Amino acid sequence: MRQATNDVMVYRAGGALCALADHCMHAGGPLHDGQGRGWASDLPVDASTFNLADGSLVRGPATAPQPSYETRVQDGKIEVRSRT
Ligand code: FES
Repeated sequence: MRQATNDVMVYRAGGALCALADHCMHAGGPLHDGQGRGWASDLPVDASTFNLADGSLVRGPATAPQPSYETRVQDGKIEVRSRT
């Protein structure tokens, strides 16, 4: 069985750990290059902006939300999984 892999950007916002797919669904811009209070942006490419908490689209040109993941800390390690 082959498993798919995804690059994930993990960001600590206040006390919360947020995780979004690192490559923008529009054209692959890296989200790890631009974050602020509650948002992430693929600044070097198109500067679309997404809500860190849930990946919802704040500003395009992207037209869809960014995949986001559930996170938790277990035995000192960050665990990330797809939302159900
Ligand atoms: S790469 Fe993100 S909007 Fe184009």
